[in-house]
Amino acid sequence: MTIDNENDLKELRAIGRIVYETMMLMRKHLKAGITTRELDHIGRKNLEKYGARSAPEVSYDFPGATCISINEEAAHGIPSDRRIQPGDLVNIDVSAELNGYFGDTGATFPVAPISPRLDYLCQCTRKALREAMKVARAGARLNQIGHAIEQVAKRSGFVTLKDLGSHGIGKSLHDEPHFIPNFLDRTDQRRLTEGQVITIEPFLSTGAEQTSTAEDGWTLLTGQGNYSAQYEYTMVITRDKPIVMTSV
Ligand code: CO
Ligand code: CO
Repeated sequence: MTIDNENDLKELRAIGRIVYETMMLMRKHLKAGITTRELDHIGRKNLEKYGARSAPEVSYDFPGATCISINEEAAHGIPSDRRIQPGDLVNIDVSAELNGYFGDTGATFPVAPISPRLDYLCQCTRKALREAMKVARAGARLNQIGHAIEQVAKRSGFVTLKDLGSHGIGKSLHDEPHFIPNFLDRTDQRRLTEGQVITIEPFLSTGAEQTSTAEDGWTLLTGQGNYSAQYEYTMVITRDKPIVMTSV
């Protein structure tokens, strides 16, 4: 969507704050031994506290309130009885709706003991998000986002997941512009516009560049021994820096 009044901004900030707070609350409880279902329950309760509804649940009938993806799982991991193990790399993605407005945020957290390589993958993915935000200005080509992400990945010896990307958001979870890739697509002529609401969510990976859907029909897998990281903010595009909605 494109923002056209103060109320749009107010509502997006409200749901943005809720999804961010929910993700950070789940992070607080993320320790070896907890199951992803228990973590998801903590997230669901927090969304309910504000009267917010899980976006994947209402939009896609996802079997869980939040997505929790571990190690070779890149995204859309289903909450289950799987227990977090020491050394796991866990992505928590929370998106929700309140008063018809959507917010979407995600982050990847290494569980102790943290391997330096996974820590570096996370650092580089956060950097990719920052670099992409620097080029996300009204008037700029949309493909500069993917270019910035890909550059960080290449310089750090990682790759990006080519079939996952950022997206428009606002009055629905996935809105125009659909699919903003994690790489430079030279054929993409689209430009960012003032007031446009989008996510930026780079996915950096240790080797795999594509995902495949697991037998459960939801989880997006890279491959055995592969790791990926994602950090995601919902933001409003301006002529200057984007305004992040998913923060406290
Ligand atoms: Co998300
Ligand atoms: Co998203």
